[in-house]
Amino acid sequence: MYLSVDCIVFKVFCLLIFKMPIFAGHRTKCIWFLIPFSSFGQSLFLLDSRKRLKGVLMDVLWLTEEDVSAHLTMDDAISAVEKAFLDHGRGQTQMPPKSYLYFSKPEGDLRTMPAFLEGQDLAGVKIVNVHPKNPEIGLPTVMALLVLNSPKTGAPIAVMGATFLTSMRTGAAGAVAARYLARPESKVVGLVGAGVQARTQLLGLSRIFEIERVIVADRSIESAKAFAEYAKTFLDCEYQTTAGAKDACDCDILVTTTPARAPVVVKEWVKPGTHINAIGADAKGKQELESALTGSAVVVVDDMAQAVHSGEVNVPISQGVLRPEEIYAQIGEILVGKKPGRTGGANGIGGEEVTIFDSTGLGIQDVATGTVVYRRAMDAGKGIHLGFL
Ligand SMILES: NC(=O)c1ccc[n+]([C@@H]2O[C@H](COP(=O)([O-])OP(=O)(O)OC[C@H]3O[C@@H](n4cnc5c(N)ncnc54)[C@H](O)[C@@H]3O)[C@@H](O)[C@H]2O)c1
Repeated sequence: MYLSVDCIVFKVFCLLIFKMPIFAGHRTKCIWFLIPFSSFGQSLFLLDSRKRLKGVLMDVLWLTEEDVSAHLTMDDAISAVEKAFLDHGRGQTQMPPKSYLYFSKPEGDLRTMPAFLEGQDLAGVKIVNVHPKNPEIGLPTVMALLVLNSPKTGAPIAVMGATFLTSMRTGAAGAVAARYLARPESKVVGLVGAGVQARTQLLGLSRIFEIERVIVADRSIESAKAFAEYAKTFLDCEYQTTAGAKDACDCDILVTTTPARAPVVVKEWVKPGTHINAIGADAKGKQELESALTGSAVVVVDDMAQAVHSGEVNVPISQGVLRPEEIYAQIGEILVGKKPGRTGGANGIGGEEVTIFDSTGLGIQDVATGTVVYRRAMDAGKGIHLGFL
């Protein structure tokens, strides 16, 4: 919304007409005069804010984090991410691997993530950081900005805060992967890491599975407890909080969301048939699962090039514990039916096998989810139009 001249005129005239006795007998007539200056009048007479950007050939819609969270549900994110994975499985995407800048004081990185979904004609690029010490100064570990571009002209059409969006599309990816890889009767979820990503991981899983129990482990027991209190607002079930990652492994679906650079979960803790969403390792040298666990499980990645470079598999591969050709599939290949998911039968992944979804986070997830937000916001007339050209 603009605090435009029209808006100021509207407010000043309202004050005069309704406060000054001289207008007392003429208020009805005066209201007709005011209509063109009101928001209703602006849209009625097509004098909306875009038209008032005089001399501007093209504008860009700016959406704040608040706008984004008001126009994105987990169900939307799941369906957008599932479609994006399908496109990836059909080979209808362009997505060079993320490029990284690495910082050391304090430790952190900054990535760019361009993506083009050819089938859906959507394109854009996300800029995102990961600074694990940020919470100590009151900032999120992960912060992001997404630009959506028109594939026809290349012009930017929207820019949005994408910190919430990142956690939603990551939660959605975990949910989609678990739908194809976890046992359908899964009821107990274990979480190692109880920060921002863990929230949307559980939210996503709660849209797919009938969850009866959640075991939350964080090295900070206060964080685990705060997580459980928050999670109760969207999932009513039994919660157990702990500082020990081993306790969280007594589950059907295990989710790891720590920035760890040394394993936090070892093979012997994991029960047969467990599905693991390995979310935290998304840069070279990061690792949450013991290499022996990854080396012996059925591993599905979101994108082969990214995972080999920076996913959960990057360390086991560099150690020679896992070879890239031993990776079972990209998740999109399972969605399009090129490879079977967990069927419990002879054709697919058996009920006793441990599966790992190695999520590095894809630009196509961001562009697909961001487009849902953009369309919703445009329909609702939300956001600020910034003159561009
Ligand atoms: N795969 C993806 O698409 C994707 C997307 C976003 C973020 N990430 C990654 O997820 C990780 C977490 O991000 P976040 O935004 O939730 O961060 P966060 O700082 O909000 O949460 C991390 C949590 O992990 C806990 N933790 C750290 N080390 C631990 C350990 N050794 N054992 C147990 N708990 C530990 C911390 O106490 C904290 O509560 C980061 O590594 C980030 O890069 C991945």
